[in-house]
Amino acid sequence: MLEGKVAVVTGASRGIGKAIACKLASLGATVIINYNGSKDKAEEVKAEIENAQGKAAVYQCNISDYGKCESFIQKVIKTYGSIDILVNNAGITRDGLLMKMSEADFDQVIDTNLKGAFNTIRFASRQMLRQRSGRIINMSSVVGVSGNAGQANYAASKAGVIGLTKAAARELASRGITVNAIAPGFIATDMTEVLPDKVKEACVSQIPLGTFGKPEQVAQAVAFLVSEDASYITGQVLHVDGGMAM
Ligand code: NAI
Repeated sequence: MLEGKVAVVTGASRGIGKAIACKLASLGATVIINYNGSKDKAEEVKAEIENAQGKAAVYQCNISDYGKCESFIQKVIKTYGSIDILVNNAGITRDGLLMKMSEADFDQVIDTNLKGAFNTIRFASRQMLRQRSGRIINMSSVVGVSGNAGQANYAASKAGVIGLTKAAARELASRGITVNAIAPGFIATDMTEVLPDKVKEACVSQIPLGTFGKPEQVAQAVAFLVSEDASYITGQVLHVDGGMAM
């Protein structure tokens, strides 16, 4: 289904990004596994993909750095000739109540979650415009839609991702590029593993389907949005949250 396509997935050394990388590779794409600090884990994802007869490469880049994003994306284009799919998955949390949140915690989360997505779109879309095709998926969150106490920085970044998605969708539509966001609810990954059991129980009680989601369930939604079947869908936010945000 995705044979011959080049897919960049940011923050793909674990969690949801890893599941997306594996899924897109299983559909035939050559997957660029981006990581910031975890080289070994990124190499493990590459090995897993290659063991399943898929194609993958590993690229280090701190996506919050504008200049480094430019050279990362240019290197990919130079090596592979195209970028057909861009999944902005990398994200961080630095939780704390508004009254106590440091400037650094606010800035870091915005720089990674929101500016990081801008940075990669800025450079990858130039290539997609030339190709007159492309698919961009940005990872938002249920928290970007409904807000969450203790996550002012994260909620602002994820709401910003939705605005970025819609603006980019409008700008790029005339050249056959679609831009959509996915808003996961609570997904069982390292990011949510650190939550205390009490908080986890409270989270589950807010989920109509009654359980945390799996990274693979988010990856399925990405696979749909980058497929031909989704060619008439752009500027949308697809909620993958067990019904939390309805
Ligand atoms: P995770 O913490 O397991 O993975 C995030 C990945 O992003 C890590 O591999 C990390 O190294 C990478 N990363 C962080 N900063 C980076 C940077 N500056 N440059 C490159 N890579 C960087 O988190 P998880 O749960 O897999 O989340 C993936 C995405 O989904 C994030 O954007 C997160 O905000 C979003 N999300 C997760 C939810 C969940 O319940 N797990 C719910 C809603 C959204």
